[in-house]
Amino acid sequence: MSDSKIVKLLDESSNRSSELPLISGTLGPACIDIGTLYKDTGHFTYDPGYGSTASTKSAITYIDGDQGVLLYRGYPIEQLAEKSNFLEVSYLLLNGELPNKTQFEGFEHEITHHTMMHEAQKNFFQGFHHDAHPMAMLAAAVASLSAFYHDDLDVENPADRKMAAIRLIAKMPTIAAACFRYSIGWPVRYPRNNLEYVTRFLHMMFEVPSEPLTLNPVAAKALDLLFILHADHEQNASTSTVRLVGSTGANPYASIAAGITALWGPAHGGANEAVLKQLEEIGTPDNVEKAVLRAKDKNDSFRLMGFGHRVYKNFDPRAKIIREMCHKVLAELGVNDPLLEVAMKLEEAALKDDYFVERKLYPNVDFYSGIIYKALGIPTEMFTVMFAIARTSGWIAHWIEQHETPGSRIGRPRQIYTGADVRDYTPTAKR
Ligand code: ACO
Repeated sequence: MSDSKIVKLLDESSNRSSELPLISGTLGPACIDIGTLYKDTGHFTYDPGYGSTASTKSAITYIDGDQGVLLYRGYPIEQLAEKSNFLEVSYLLLNGELPNKTQFEGFEHEITHHTMMHEAQKNFFQGFHHDAHPMAMLAAAVASLSAFYHDDLDVENPADRKMAAIRLIAKMPTIAAACFRYSIGWPVRYPRNNLEYVTRFLHMMFEVPSEPLTLNPVAAKALDLLFILHADHEQNASTSTVRLVGSTGANPYASIAAGITALWGPAHGGANEAVLKQLEEIGTPDNVEKAVLRAKDKNDSFRLMGFGHRVYKNFDPRAKIIREMCHKVLAELGVNDPLLEVAMKLEEAALKDDYFVERKLYPNVDFYSGIIYKALGIPTEMFTVMFAIARTSGWIAHWIEQHETPGSRIGRPRQIYTGADVRDYTPTAKR
């Protein structure tokens, strides 16, 4: 890391100037440190949507959007997808290094032995209407963990922070499965600790008390891979939300619950649900052309869901892996889903259309993931919940990194005020 060069900025109207150092990370463009700008010149910077703004230093994940590169702690996503598993990736995100055998076994043991929900927490679900969206239930249930683990949590204590991470990664699948089962009127299934993480989750989702569940191992392998690909993505909207909430000193469960609500939006993690609904609406490959025309029409708010990304302007490396997996999983599970044909036609049509080419709009991670979730029997409304289970390891790794960084301050953006100038109060009779 070097902080050598200086950018000089002069405000000619006031003749005040500022010398702004350039900060470089290990990879990626150098950033202009504007921390003293207001003091020196009396000006703020304006960057709605943070198109040019780095909000933090972080050593967890690196993205090169032009080259389609994604690294977790330096390891290319393609290698992790091929060789690792979700729990190992979670360990890597949290600790910075891949675990040796003993470290992995210790981590898996800890996760496995914190999978149960507090029995009282089960009652929470009874308060929801039967058709409540599972993301609403998930956000509420995760926030409620603050009430169950509040007394023994000191966010300044590294051991307490680690325990919160273990609890969140361990309990997320249990809570997620409970949301699903409540919505369909099935009894909540306790976690079976003789199973590994993803298989245990699938059992909690689909096993009924009256008969044993036979799972195709392809399903667990596919879900594990999807979890790896969704585990972290640097300072995206939900992770930035977790950090903003975390910057106030809020507890990790409240911070992650805020991340879940940010993830829910269709411009972010909610896109996987929106993609599938859109593919169903399009219905057949013949209607693809019409959908592409609508997406290009500036008088129509319709967008191709699962297309475009703030950072990736070449391709999304996760989408490339998921696309390949999608064909494989459907073949191995013997699923013949006509939506795959619609998706492929849509991708083909968009990729050769000038509108999408000029704007560098490519399929993103969510474009094909929904077709795989559907093949695994996961209902559409649970898709974003799947994303949230995986992203929990990234969110909590960022929350911990934030607390380990000396000099962290509360996040407090400024604004350009465009409201009324100062004016005097008028009594009601004179308005
Ligand atoms: N369909 C049609 N046009 C699009 C799409 C799309 N999916 N995405 C962007 N555009 C167009 C915009 O209209 C805009 O056109 P203009 O320059 O003529 O005004 C241009 O491309 C740039 O789009 P922005 O909205 O400025 O790009 P931004 O970086 O702010 O948004 C986003 C990125 C939110 C992902 C956007 O591409 C989108 O809405 N995609 C669909 C939703 C989606 O798939 N979200 C998941 C993202 S991945 C994730 O969060 C896990």
